[in-house]
Amino acid sequence: MDRNLALNLARVTEAAALGAAKYMGRGDKNEADQAAVDGMRRMFDTLNVDGVVVIGEGEMDEAPMLYIGERIGKASEGSPKLDIAVDPLDGTNAVAKGLPNAISVVATAPRGCLLNAPDMYMDKIAVGPRAKGVVNLDAPVKENLINVAKALNKSISDLTVTMLERERHEGIIRECRELGVRIKLFKDGDVGAAIATCFEDRGVDILLGIGGAPEGVIAAAALKCLGGEFQGKLVPYTEEEAERCKKMGVDTDKVLLLDDLVKGNEVLFAATGISDGDLLKGVRYFGDYTARTHSVVMRSETGTIRFIEAIHRLDKKPDYAK
Ligand code: FBP
Repeated sequence: MDRNLALNLARVTEAAALGAAKYMGRGDKNEADQAAVDGMRRMFDTLNVDGVVVIGEGEMDEAPMLYIGERIGKASEGSPKLDIAVDPLDGTNAVAKGLPNAISVVATAPRGCLLNAPDMYMDKIAVGPRAKGVVNLDAPVKENLINVAKALNKSISDLTVTMLERERHEGIIRECRELGVRIKLFKDGDVGAAIATCFEDRGVDILLGIGGAPEGVIAAAALKCLGGEFQGKLVPYTEEEAERCKKMGVDTDKVLLLDDLVKGNEVLFAATGISDGDLLKGVRYFGDYTARTHSVVMRSETGTIRFIEAIHRLDKKPDYAK
């Protein structure tokens, strides 16, 4: 896999983030999402890849761009054939309400390597490299937390669990409280939260709880690059969703391990902050037609992680100056 493609993916998420950030705090999540999609799609058109969207904005009849199955990139002979998973804006509500943790993300792997996760919920567990191998989504919460604390050489009271602030997590929260661990709740954006478990200075040790399945695959791609561990289980809430899982041949009782979600070791991942978050700073627009972005780019083959701070001259990029 061409290693420079990883840097080009940062251009893709930068473009999406610059678009979405214009709608920060404006109360309209759809416009923000559309701007992210437009920016991402435009930049993908410049990349020399033969890509198929496996995780995107929805089915073809629901989304005009970045829909599942859409071919993207300007493919020519010899272009890498890739699966592409995108979330141009993870945290649509966060942008609309001017809240933290919105990011733009993209992951790629050779064709057939990313799970085509349906748009439903997924139960998730994510930990960083030092706690790899000690968690099991099927085990009781208490057992996982004790094992992670041991692996990190922390007392249980110093362990921090992070999860989406949702009513469905009341049970897990109760178990965590009984054990005396800290809980860091967040409103939106569980891709960034899963990734944060891999950076000790971000202050979260384990992600638990239910979020979107597509976001789960994207987070798994990042954790593969980072050497962390991610497990997920699809959670169908309706008959129709259960049927969809059956058709896909996904057993909803089975824990999907990292290699089930993201096969092989040729994974590339990029993310750019839209609003400030635990992982990345958000986009800043300045009065002199410049904007600043913060991105992270990773490759699983080498494990290199690059944080990129970019200054964009908007007067030279008419697409963003609108
Ligand atoms: P959107 O940007 O699509 O709104 O997703 C934000 C998000 O917080 C994801 O990060 C998370 O996986 C999912 O929503 C959780 O879903 P819900 O808001 O329905 O609990």
